[in-house]
Amino acid sequence: MFEALPIPPVDPILALGGAVRSDRRSDKLDLGIGVFRDEAGHTPIMGAVREAERRLLDERKTKSYVGARGDMLFVDAVVQLILGTARSERLAGIQATGGTGALRVLAGLVAHARDDVTVWVPEPTWLNHQTIFADAGLKTAGYPYYDRTELRARPDLLLAKLETIPAGDIVLFHGCCHNPCGADLSLEAWEAIAEVIGRRGLIPLVDLAYQGFGRGLEEDAEGVRLLARELPELLVAFSCSKNFGLYSERTGCALVLAENAASARFAGDHMALVARPLYSMPPDHGSAIVRTILEDAALASSWRTELDIVTQSILSKRGVLAAAFRDAIGTTDFDYLERGSGMFSLLNLSSTEILALREERGIYIVEDGRINVAGLPTHRVGDFAGAISDVLMRRLRSAGSGNSKTRLAGSLGSHTGQQEDSSV
Ligand code: LMR
Repeated sequence: MFEALPIPPVDPILALGGAVRSDRRSDKLDLGIGVFRDEAGHTPIMGAVREAERRLLDERKTKSYVGARGDMLFVDAVVQLILGTARSERLAGIQATGGTGALRVLAGLVAHARDDVTVWVPEPTWLNHQTIFADAGLKTAGYPYYDRTELRARPDLLLAKLETIPAGDIVLFHGCCHNPCGADLSLEAWEAIAEVIGRRGLIPLVDLAYQGFGRGLEEDAEGVRLLARELPELLVAFSCSKNFGLYSERTGCALVLAENAASARFAGDHMALVARPLYSMPPDHGSAIVRTILEDAALASSWRTELDIVTQSILSKRGVLAAAFRDAIGTTDFDYLERGSGMFSLLNLSSTEILALREERGIYIVEDGRINVAGLPTHRVGDFAGAISDVLMRRLRSAGSGNSKTRLAGSLGSHTGQQEDSSV
C-alpha cells in the first residue's frame, strides 16, 4: 500500500539537521535548527534544570498518568511567567508537547469552534506554522511583516492589512524574537495592533517560543501582556524548549483567554478533546522540571541568572558578527544583525549561494536564509563573515560589478546582484 504514497515534502529545518549530521567535515558550521550552543558547540543542561531533576529523582514516587490536561500547577506557574498574573477564571490552559504541540492543540480548538476561519501568519514566518494549521484543516494566509530590503519589521503594512482581514479570523504574532527574521515589534506597535484587533473582532494567537531570549523575561512578554489586558479573547502557544533548554523534553503550554469563565471552561474541555487522539496525555518530566524551578524562589532566581547569561551571550555574538562584517566587507549593511532579537536573523542569500556555502564550506543555513546566531561560536564568527564575503564577491563578479570591496556595501541590504533563483 505504501507505494501509493506521494513523495513527501521536505521539512527544510529538520532535513538540514540530517545533512549536518552526515557531513564528516570537522569544521562544519550548523546554523540551522534553533538551539543555543556554547563556545564548545554544546547545548548545555542548565544548572537549575539539573538541580530540579535531582530533586525529582529523589522525591517522585510514581510514573502514573498526569491526565489529559497535564499538571495544572505547571500551567499556573507558566501563566504567571507569561502574563505576570495568576490564572483567572477567564483562562484555560493545557500542558502541551512543546511549542509545536501547543500550536497544534490551539489549531484543533479553533477548528472545533469554526473550521471556516483563516489563520493569518506573518511573512515570513516559522516554516512549520502553515503545516501545523493545515494539519488541523485550517486555511492560512500571509500578512506583510518584514521588509527584506530595509531589514526591519513593517508595523505600518501589518496594521493596514489587519484592517482588511475578516472579523473572526485568527492572526498569529510572534511574541518576541521573531523566527526567522529577529525583528520585533515596539510596544507602540503592539498598542496599535491591540486597538485594530479589538475594533475589528479579530482573534490574536501569540506564539511565544523564546521568552527571555530577546530583551529579558518581562520585556519579551510586553506584547502578549498588553493583548491579554486589552482584548476579550487571546490564544497563546508557549514553549519551554529554549528558555529552559528543555528541547528534547517537549514541554510547553497552550492557553486560551476567553470572554468569560463559561467559555474558558469550554475551551479547556475542547483542548483536552483535541489532545486525546493526538497523544492522549502529555509527557511529565519536562513540565515537572519547570514547575520545580518556578515554585522554588532560589531555584527560579538561579534559572533567571543562567537565562540572562545565555541572552547576553547571544547579544554579544550579534555585536561581534556585525563587527566582523564591517571588517570583512567594509560595510555597515550588516549592523541590522546587532539590532536583531533572539536566536535568528535572515541573510539575503540566493538558494545557489546557500547551497554553495553548504557544499564548499560546510556552512549550513536554512533555505529561507535564516541563521541561528545562537549556534555560532564566537571564535568562528570571522570564518563565517569571510565565507559570506566571498559569496558576495562572487555575486558581484558574476554581475560584472568588479572586485572592489566597497562595491559590496549595500549588496545584502538592497539585494543588488540577487540572483533569479533566490528563495528569499
Ligand atoms: C527552529 O525553528 O529551528 C526550532 O523551533 C525547532 C523546530 O522545531 O523547527
